This record gives sequence, C-alpha cells and structure tokens, in this order.
Amino acid sequence: MAATAQSKLAARYGAPDITPLKQWNDTLDQLLDHRSVRAFTDLPLPEGTIETLIAAAQSASTSSNLQVWSVVAVQDADRKDRLSALAGNQAYIRQAPLFFVWLADLSRVSRIGEQSDTELEALPYLESLLLGTIDAALAAQNALVALESLGLGSVYIGAIRNDIEGVAKELGLPPQVYPVFGMCVGYPSDDRPAKVKPRLPQRAVLHHEIYSATGEAAALAEYDEHLGAFYQREGMKASGWSEQVVSRLRSVSSLHGREQLVEELKRMGFGLR
Ligand SMILES: Cc1cc2nc3c(=O)[nH]c(=O)nc-3n(C[C@H](O)[C@H](O)[C@H](O)COP(=O)(O)O)c2cc1C
Repeated sequence: MAATAQSKLAARYGAPDITPLKQWNDTLDQLLDHRSVRAFTDLPLPEGTIETLIAAAQSASTSSNLQVWSVVAVQDADRKDRLSALAGNQAYIRQAPLFFVWLADLSRVSRIGEQSDTELEALPYLESLLLGTIDAALAAQNALVALESLGLGSVYIGAIRNDIEGVAKELGLPPQVYPVFGMCVGYPSDDRPAKVKPRLPQRAVLHHEIYSATGEAAALAEYDEHLGAFYQREGMKASGWSEQVVSRLRSVSSLHGREQLVEELKRMGFGLR
C-alpha cells in the first residue's frame, strides 16, 4: 500500500500500526476517507447535481425491484428552517444548500394495487416497512458516495424521525410514506474541517463461519482508547466508545420522541403485522 493509502487506513481505525490492506484503488480510497460534514460554505450546488445524485441512488439494489422508496429534495430556506426545528434544531440543516429527506414509500405500490383492483395482502406487514427502510438506506448511501466523489460533503439526519408526523405534514407525504432520515448536502467549509472518525477494530465486527464474542472485551478496550485519543486530538471531551454507548442508550429521553414511532407509523397507514 502507498503511504497515503496506509495513512487513510490508519485514520479509519485510529491505529497507526495497523496491518496494510492487500487491495487498494480509488473507490476504496474515497470510501475509507468518509467523514460526516456539519459545516457548509454558502456555495450553491452546480446545476444538475440533484439529478446526478438520484441516478446514483437509483442504481442501488432494491428488494424484488419494488423500489419502495422516494426522496424529497428541499432547497427552500423557510422549509429547511421548519425541518431543522422538527429535527432537534440542527443548524447545518439550515446551512446546507440542499436537504434530502429519504422516504420509505409504500404508497406507490398501494396505488398500483388500487388501480388493478387487487388487495395487496402481503403489504401491511413489518416486513414491508423494513423493505422500504432498507431500500431508502441503500439508495441514500449510494447518493452519499456519489456526492463525496464530486467534492461535496454530507451528514445523515436521523433526528428527522423525532416527529415523523410533523415532517409528513411539512412535506405533504401521503399515507404509507415515512421519512427514514434526512441528509444535508453542500460544500464542506474549511472553518470546521471534518475528520475521519475511527471505527471498531475489525475483529469486533467480523466473524468467520460462526458468531463469537470471544476476545470482544479486549477489542472494545482498544477502541475506547483509540476513540478517546481521537477526541482528545480534536480538542473534545475524551470519552471512550463504551461510555458513549451507555449514555446514548441508558434513557428513553435520548430517543427525542422516537419512542412514539410504532404508534405514529400506525397512524400514518402502515400495517405492522
Ligand atoms: C442513519 C443515521 C442518522 C444520523 N443522524 C445524525 C443526526 O441527526 N445528526 C448528526 O449530527 N449526525 C447524524 N449522523 C451521523 C453520525 O453521527 C456519524 O455518521 C457517526 O458519528 C460516524 O461519523 P462519520 O460519519 O464522520 O464517520 C447519523 C448517521 C446515520 C447513519
């Protein structure tokens, strides 16, 4: 591996002495260099950017080719403002020139059922909700990889699920459509350059043949150290990962309204059998 590739791999794991990968190319170079961007310049996006990103999104695999996802591209400042208010007031939603809301969309196939006067018996199941959610996520991640290849940056916004009915009203969503997450898109600002955030050691996530948690404690301790050092380098409070996991999951209050999702989804027309 070339020195720059090796330094990217080391950054990905926060481990300077990591074993080099045997393969490397431009795609891997870009993937391993991903970082969420939370500060944008006011440069507008070049004409046609949305269509390019959606072509990449639509190139993702989709369950049974059902394509049960849609996306709303929001550029209007007032609407971004209202969506930011619905999603924990995250300032970068206002700042980014483009905000995508990725949707699990069962309404299109429902309309096809109605038009052909056929009850879609297999639709009102949790499986369909998962299908739409997975499809939307795969499409969105393709768009993210594409936009990073164009020199743009982005961050997903899961907080769009804090109030999915509020978002549905704002975007005029029909029944059986819900916002899976948002995505800010724009040119990264040099004022607050985003850094590559280290991930768990591979041995914590990769199992061969059968699952095994043997050795997990040591891998997690190593990661706590690497992530803590990363935060320290970035001038942030040096907490380890395990600590973050516990503080994120210890109380329902960290769900910020998302504890209501099942009830909201039912009211929005999803059958969850
Ligand atoms: C589905 C999803 C939802 C997310 N929601 C938010 C969010 O609401 N606000 C935010 O600042 N970052 C959000 N993120 C970004 C993550 O915090 C980020 O991906 C993670 O910390 C790893 O950092 P990296 O993307 O820079 O590698 C979200 C990421 C995903 C995948």
